[in-house]
Amino acid sequence: MSKIKYFSGETIPLEMHKVRIVQKLALPPIEHRLEVMTKAGNNTFLLPNEEVFLDMLTDSGVNAMSDRQLAAMMVADDAYAGSATYTRLETKLRDIFGMDYFLPAHQGRACEHILAKVLVTPGSVVPMNYHFTTTKAHITLQGGVVEELVSDAGLEVVSALPFKGDMDIAKLEATIARHGAGKIAFVRVESGTNLIGGQPVSLKNLAEVSAVCRRHGIVLVLDASLLADNLHFNKTREASCKDLTIREITRRIADLCDIVYFSARKLGCARGGGICIRDKDMYLRMRGLVPLFEGFLTYGGMSVREIEAITVGLEETMDEDMIDQGPQFIAYMVGELERRGVPVITPAGGLGCHVDAKRFVDHIPQEQYPAGALASALYIAGGIRGMERGTLSEQREPDGREVFSNMELVRLAMPRRVFTLSQVKYAIDRLSWLHENRRLVGGLTFVEEPEVLRFFYGLLKPVSDWQQRLVAKFRADFGDSL
Ligand code: F0G
Repeated sequence: MSKIKYFSGETIPLEMHKVRIVQKLALPPIEHRLEVMTKAGNNTFLLPNEEVFLDMLTDSGVNAMSDRQLAAMMVADDAYAGSATYTRLETKLRDIFGMDYFLPAHQGRACEHILAKVLVTPGSVVPMNYHFTTTKAHITLQGGVVEELVSDAGLEVVSALPFKGDMDIAKLEATIARHGAGKIAFVRVESGTNLIGGQPVSLKNLAEVSAVCRRHGIVLVLDASLLADNLHFNKTREASCKDLTIREITRRIADLCDIVYFSARKLGCARGGGICIRDKDMYLRMRGLVPLFEGFLTYGGMSVREIEAITVGLEETMDEDMIDQGPQFIAYMVGELERRGVPVITPAGGLGCHVDAKRFVDHIPQEQYPAGALASALYIAGGIRGMERGTLSEQREPDGREVFSNMELVRLAMPRRVFTLSQVKYAIDRLSWLHENRRLVGGLTFVEEPEVLRFFYGLLKPVSDWQQRLVAKFRADFGDSL
């Protein structure tokens, strides 16, 4: 796990940083947590942050920043055009990814908007290892179709496969043969594949995908939002990367692609995004959309302070100590939960720990949203905010039928360098208690169900008094503990 061995033989991750700016947390009593959850309609997106003890909703825009990032923000060059801050970012990106052209955007989905507008036409197909919500939305908005080509083994919840994000090359060849290369808008590979549990893509697989794309003259796009975690796994799980530096692995990855875009809310630990492009014509086709939708070319909707922080954050991402922290904490959490019999996605990936609600609360039918119910129960039990990634996050068919999700997950994101190991231990403890008492957890039903993106705003209620019974059991077991 950690490069540092303990005399005791324990295998626990060790932080390679110290914390000098902190934010106070509060943990309200469980009765109050139940009230808050009820008011939020059992939807963790609607919880006010001051009522949350451990915010594990996402790793987006909430990673810890370094002293150097904060210092760089103080010397940002605010200018509408020609900002020196922008030039520093452009230079850093050219240095890291080796692509000549860069377009800034205010976050990852803004990059996807531009890419889809330029590359996707009605009826065109975008093969990818797996979709991300915003990616798919922008492609379908342009009339394109997403085809997911992750290997079948990548969708197995319990696995020992080191690179579950790998694309199935035979499926890619078949998709191109079926539609014809001319119909393929681009092929997209997502590093650290988010929706299947932050699972990485191997350099070997990316090279195979790249060879197929080049043979057919198809543009290969890398979503590098979760690249930092992916790099950790290339280095630690892939023999051919063992002796390469993180910078060398990054360059090998980029060399295989035509376009690399990213959400800097994840990669670079700040807030923003951008598109790195190899080809000048492609760059020129996209350039006009940046001033239209984002802002002038030298800020692209980002604050210059954030741009400075991204530049430093990207450089820090080339440091193994920095990128190891998240995956090592996640591996610790996943390992400890597995040991206690709590069902989780394995092997541990990046981004966060993914609890398998299908097995955790197997008595709750999918139409009663097992992952949503578990996310609600976990907030009540421990003040921990996770994110439902299951049926609740799907959209109904036009005739009103539910679309049942392949996986029912509660994602407990691990914002990078934010939580201490004792906080992670607390989350493990409360999850274990909940698992012991899982039969007390019941389902949810909608009170108010928006037609679009219902998981963001929807209000739900429990199907019975299970939440009151959960609170009573907590009091019986923990006395007056928070
Ligand atoms: N691509 C991936 C793989 C992502 O995980 C995200 C965001 C985006 C693109 C969009 O980037 O948020 O900057 O517009 N993921 C966040 C999450 C929202 O919570 O997983 P964005």
